Amino acid sequence: MNSPVMQGLSLDAPSWVRNAKLIAWVADMVALCKPESVVWCDGSQEEYERLCQQLVDAGTFKRLDPVKRPGSYLAWSDPSDVARVEDRTFICSKKKEDAGPTNNWTDPAEMRATLQPLFDGCMRGRTMYVVPFSMGPLGSPIAHIGIELSDSPYVAVNMKLMTRMGRAVYDVLGVDGEFVPCVHTVGAPLEPGQQDVAWPCNKTKYIVHYPETREIWSYGSGYGGNALLGKKCFALRIASTMGRDEGWLAEHMLILGVTSPQGRKYHVAAAFPSACGKTNFAMLIPPAGFEGWKVTTIGDDIAWIKPGSDGRLYAINPEAGYFGVAPGTNHDTNPNCMDSLDRDVIFTNVALTDDGDVWWEGMGPAPRHAIDWQGKDWTPELAKETGAKAAHPNARFTVAATNNPALDAAWDDPRGVAIDAFIFGGRRSTTVPLVTEARNWIEGVYMAATMGSETTAAAFGQQGVVRRDPFAMLPFAGYNMADYFQHWLDLGRKLQASGATLPRIYTTNWFRKGPDGKFVWPGYGENMRVLKWMIDRIEGKASGQEHVFGVSPAYEELNWTGLDFTPEQFKSVTSIDKAAWEKELTLHTELFEQLAYHLPEELGATKARLEKRLAA
Ligand code: OXD
Ligand code: MN
Repeated sequence: MNSPVMQGLSLDAPSWVRNAKLIAWVADMVALCKPESVVWCDGSQEEYERLCQQLVDAGTFKRLDPVKRPGSYLAWSDPSDVARVEDRTFICSKKKEDAGPTNNWTDPAEMRATLQPLFDGCMRGRTMYVVPFSMGPLGSPIAHIGIELSDSPYVAVNMKLMTRMGRAVYDVLGVDGEFVPCVHTVGAPLEPGQQDVAWPCNKTKYIVHYPETREIWSYGSGYGGNALLGKKCFALRIASTMGRDEGWLAEHMLILGVTSPQGRKYHVAAAFPSACGKTNFAMLIPPAGFEGWKVTTIGDDIAWIKPGSDGRLYAINPEAGYFGVAPGTNHDTNPNCMDSLDRDVIFTNVALTDDGDVWWEGMGPAPRHAIDWQGKDWTPELAKETGAKAAHPNARFTVAATNNPALDAAWDDPRGVAIDAFIFGGRRSTTVPLVTEARNWIEGVYMAATMGSETTAAAFGQQGVVRRDPFAMLPFAGYNMADYFQHWLDLGRKLQASGATLPRIYTTNWFRKGPDGKFVWPGYGENMRVLKWMIDRIEGKASGQEHVFGVSPAYEELNWTGLDFTPEQFKSVTSIDKAAWEKELTLHTELFEQLAYHLPEELGATKARLEKRLAA
């Protein structure tokens, strides 16, 4: 039997790998990257534990207390490698206009010439892991396969939790199946005898996508979306171009199921920009006053959505785990998430407590002492004096979906779930009301296309600046954003022509602030009140109130049992300020000017109609 571990450059793939194209590609990449050895990952538990132990021995992982946090590890990254690097992320389509003005573009030939010397010998002294993964339930008609070659065992173990990773993927791939090739290196080759560091990476970073040939090349970072290539690189950037070409959607959306006390079940896909509470919404626990209601999670970040033969849109979660932001997560904001983190978790950049557990800002009472994410002593007193954070604001947990007590029974169903509503929600302290239902698909696409959101420290350094984030896809669309809008409009038109009932489209804003600078809407589990109103609309039970931008609830239409929220407070999160909206629409104009190439005419016409209504 072939051993999955090979030394030197001879490439002897294990017998369970039968795809000639894959074997030839791995051989080419071995010749280019020149690793010391190659490991063909089989996805077994034994392999996971062996690699975790290796990471412990290398100083990358600390094993957490086996009673407090069984099977769990903590990694601290290099302080220069803590988040996605949008300015180093490239869409290298043949034509610049196909990447569009919102993406960094470089000619593919030029980019290949730049990357070639960087990748030449980039894995010297390291092991190349061949990581086979399925994005989506194995064998699902909505799923696709990727193979990541990485010199990071941290990536291999994270991919085991985040995707369906392992030998079964090769069975689906067969001898001539298609896969998306993903090459990743931390860009830190080791000279003979050179001591490794706990978190190898390179100051130079390139996260590169070639949409026409469906390839991903990532250089220099070991962190999150830069390195776990199934997530943002494949499941959003490359998959969105696949969806454009093949008539489906790859979206930055959570998927949840919501079941009424009468047993009626609906499925909702919701797009919020990064760090706007997608995981919290996907795991929501209905509050008092909603006895008998149940919310279940299908996914917390990404949805792949394809039209079924009945004209409905069916969604799967291409991922199999959550890579969530830890700070701010606690038993009040997200109890299901906290329960998911009890065991078998990889934490990155949170603080280590003296009893071998983890802590982050917003988790609960601070420990009297901890070691912060940079390995330094941390105390609440120090934090008060200097503002020092114990956890990095973008610290993360990686955990398998199966840890989630609210996991939907259909989360792994190859057929996916039929979507009844889309939600688009930005973070806006003013202007945008709590919830609005679009009058029709085109107005819904308009609202999603013009969505703005205030940036958060976690992802972008500077806080509170409104940036347009169409469909929450700004950093993730793999092609021209205007063409992406057109794709949504075309799909809607096609489904409507087939007689299908399209999902409703809603926009939400949980983040409006009062004059005291505090959030007015309580958020988290209380968002159930808004979700229920959406269901009432779908069931024809709520007439709502029409305004310039669509339909919003009257105060009496929300179930207020168990929450003290006055009509005045409600007004302050739902009111439409004419002057603020006039200003907002000038920002839409700016966006449309930026996206003028191929901007769908319907969107300009919709804007003109909304302006007229506002002026009336
Ligand atoms: C994420 C993101 O990590 O959107 O999900 O940045
Ligand atoms: Mn995300």
